[in-house]
Amino acid sequence: LSSASLFSKTNPYSYTYDDVIFLPHYIDFPTDSVNLTTKLTKNINLSIPCVSSPMDTVTESYMAVSMAALGGIAIIHNNNNGVDQAGLVRSVKSRRIPFVSDPIVMSFNDCIHSVDDFGDSPCVFVTDSNKLLGVVSKLDWERLSDNKSVKVGEYMSKSVLKGLSSYSFEQAATFLAANKLDYLPLVNEVDGEVMDLFTSDDVERIRGFPKLGAPSVGKDGKFLVGAAIGTREQEKERLEHLVKAGVNVVVLDSSQGNSIYQLDMIKYVKRTYPDLDVIGGNIVTAYQAQNLIEAGADGLRVGMGSGSICTTQEVCAVGRGQATAVYKVSSIASKQGVPVIADGGIANSGHIVKALVLGASTVMMGSFLAGSNEAPGVYESQGGHRVKKYRGMGSLEAMTKGSDARYLGDTSKLKVAQGVVGAVADKGSVLKFIPYTMQAVKQGFQDLGAPSVESAHKLLQSSVLRLEVRTGAAQAEGGVHDLLSYAKKPF
Ligand code: XMP
Repeated sequence: LSSASLFSKTNPYSYTYDDVIFLPHYIDFPTDSVNLTTKLTKNINLSIPCVSSPMDTVTESYMAVSMAALGGIAIIHNNNNGVDQAGLVRSVKSRRIPFVSDPIVMSFNDCIHSVDDFGDSPCVFVTDSNKLLGVVSKLDWERLSDNKSVKVGEYMSKSVLKGLSSYSFEQAATFLAANKLDYLPLVNEVDGEVMDLFTSDDVERIRGFPKLGAPSVGKDGKFLVGAAIGTREQEKERLEHLVKAGVNVVVLDSSQGNSIYQLDMIKYVKRTYPDLDVIGGNIVTAYQAQNLIEAGADGLRVGMGSGSICTTQEVCAVGRGQATAVYKVSSIASKQGVPVIADGGIANSGHIVKALVLGASTVMMGSFLAGSNEAPGVYESQGGHRVKKYRGMGSLEAMTKGSDARYLGDTSKLKVAQGVVGAVADKGSVLKFIPYTMQAVKQGFQDLGAPSVESAHKLLQSSVLRLEVRTGAAQAEGGVHDLLSYAKKPF
């Protein structure tokens, strides 16, 4: 079928990614020539179509610098106060290397009682008002006689080589190698504050990731980063903090974006900060999209209840299958030059291909990224597997921390959950698995004869690309089947 007939007004069904399948087209170019550069908003270009979701178990500074280094972007969550959120944006802006370490810092009079005090770190920084006084390496500590109650300030090394947090990756790696160091404190050049611990392991990890395209860097030469805000009056103060911190785009975080509150907020943002791009949502219909576009949205976020941790469709009886939602919103948004983010429900590279071909310019991911090293939180063990916690922003647990405005529960004392708390498997670093995922997406585009995201949109709209709905049996056949067991791929 052509997309127009499959998603026609008279079809009463709403489909999601797994329901539909594209028919292969004609290949006349190699996989590597597929170009995944795209637009997040009217004014923000990305090298890869990947956006990390504004959720407190997915996106803080570490995720943001890594996504920007890959050529995508991250949206910092707003389950915090404006000052803290702006601090996370500043932290992204202060870094040029895709990592944010969490060095162990002690004061002059502290003691190291056990080797566990080092955690995974090779050293402890000794500071006064965040300024570096010296370093105690694990070796220094081990060399101490049995009396381990000596104050760190008394045996730390004072002559420590330091690097600047503004170093590029190559500068920091060269400095480390030239001075035969295993690790290097990176300090802020303005106030000397200790920012990071850069180690030879980081060099190896970062060198190992394939380059996908240009990193996402703004006119200021710093990593691009976005932030989520709500629509309540006090969010204007949050916005001011974010703008001062240098945020590049804001996402109005709401589960039903077509509201007078959001339309007013879009207008306010555009009026007050004309250079700041604003993304509206979430929406699933052309009618909702038109309202947000007319209010001035520079991008649209599509999805209602499609997320892995969402219960909105069950609780509120509203939403739409994600393939239909992406297609319907994109059809109207593309005519007005407004890029669409397909948000939620991405579980594999095939879903990304489907979202992009159906009209989205980027995909926003929560569960797909939540098990990575870069997501906030620590790994735990569950049934013999290494997992990280992942929770919906509408879960009671997250709302108790403050995210209830997204679900319009702000004036009510009764909190109704629209999401759950769960866990996802360890996936390692996004620097490794996103490049693999993008290579798989390129192969999908090659099979469809689409050398770019834009060309895929055109091929679908002109009915050159055709798709069908899969029956339940066809879906089962399209997955792994009839094996006694198989090794599930890590991603
Ligand atoms: P995935 O499938 O990538 O979905 O894990 C992430 C998206 O889900 C949305 N989200 C929620 N939706 N209740 C909902 O109905 C929730 O608690 C919730 N938390 C996040 C959000 O759009 C996110 O990007």
